[in-house]
Amino acid sequence: MSDYIRGENAFLHAYGRYDILLEKGEGVYLYDTNGKQYLDFYSGIGVNSFGHGYPAYTQALKDQIDQLTHVSNYFYTPVSIEAAERVKEATQLEGVFFCNSGTEATEGALKLARKYYYLKHGKADSEIISFHSSFHGRSTGSVKLTGNPHYQEAFGPLIEGVQYATLNDIDSVKSLINERTGAIIVEPLQGEGGLSLCKKEFLKELRELCDQHDICLILDEVQCGMGRTGTIMTYFQYDILPDIVCLAKGIGAGVPVGAFVANKKFAEAMAPGDHGSTYGGNPFVCAAVKTVFDIMENDRILDHVQDVSAYLIQQLDQLVEDYDVLESRRGLGLMLGLVFKEEVKPYIKELLDDGVIVVSAGANILRMLPPLVITKEHVDLFINKLKKVLG
Ligand SMILES: Cc1ncc(COP(=O)(O)O)c(C=O)c1O
Repeated sequence: MSDYIRGENAFLHAYGRYDILLEKGEGVYLYDTNGKQYLDFYSGIGVNSFGHGYPAYTQALKDQIDQLTHVSNYFYTPVSIEAAERVKEATQLEGVFFCNSGTEATEGALKLARKYYYLKHGKADSEIISFHSSFHGRSTGSVKLTGNPHYQEAFGPLIEGVQYATLNDIDSVKSLINERTGAIIVEPLQGEGGLSLCKKEFLKELRELCDQHDICLILDEVQCGMGRTGTIMTYFQYDILPDIVCLAKGIGAGVPVGAFVANKKFAEAMAPGDHGSTYGGNPFVCAAVKTVFDIMENDRILDHVQDVSAYLIQQLDQLVEDYDVLESRRGLGLMLGLVFKEEVKPYIKELLDDGVIVVSAGANILRMLPPLVITKEHVDLFINKLKKVLG
């Protein structure tokens, strides 16, 4: 029996998996059990910011395993405090809650926004505005925030009080606001939904609307945060601060950790017992979080992302000019999409056969989320392989 069939027999079939067993990673390359090399242009869906086996990262994790892995959240540990301080500083917000995933980050942010509303109004009937084509997770709360009926259909009844506006259409938001509106949640750059970017004016207007009506502005930077778009938080490119930001993926760069981080006003709504997590932010994952920030600084990762992404974007834009099958290029930094005029699946499969891993975002968008440490040589290699399949 092949290993793939063993997997199919053992797992629930929640994913359509490839018949490839990845065994080892080194730098920006992955290797399967037959020793075939793959250029990693998806980073485990935007997670492995430093690729695989980055020495400072793996060493810090090994050291932490020797020291302490888990103690529960009844106690602080030196490393958890340091990680929280680094997140607080990076987000320019006030209070951090560590959880284990992006889903938990959006779920927790939603609860905190609702708690604030409850304290203010004395009743728990707040409404949330989210956006069509958004993605915020898979729990029955976060999947309701996800503006895509496909993910919701079979799983009702989901949470109540969520409405969907249209990205970059401020009137569609205004028409949904009423005295029960407690929060607006938005990805500055949509990931799963197709790499649509919030316009600068739009996000600023959302901020103003939220200030005007005392609504919580939640930015979901689970995919676009932590340096992927060239600044540590994408919202710094918009000159605004959210009330709550949701993080995961790149904050741990390979270990399961997420966070929601609130400003002072919303942080004050949280009381002991309101929320919790057995594992959330244990010393092991906090060592990863702290080390992610160390590497970001020491190895000047943001400068590198800005530099190498400009090079990649230039090449992609050239491809859009040269190849009829391509409609446009979307995204920011190293979170990019190529919009095809047809289904992208066959192209992704061909790239995979040729030793390159990318993912899709919807039916016709090829999504690139390479490790932040790719070089221009890796970009050249990628573009050449892409040209081959486009040709
Ligand atoms: C913007 C955004 N929010 C939330 C999530 C959910 O994160 P997780 O899969 O870690 O639960 C994702 C995952 O892709 C995401 O892209």
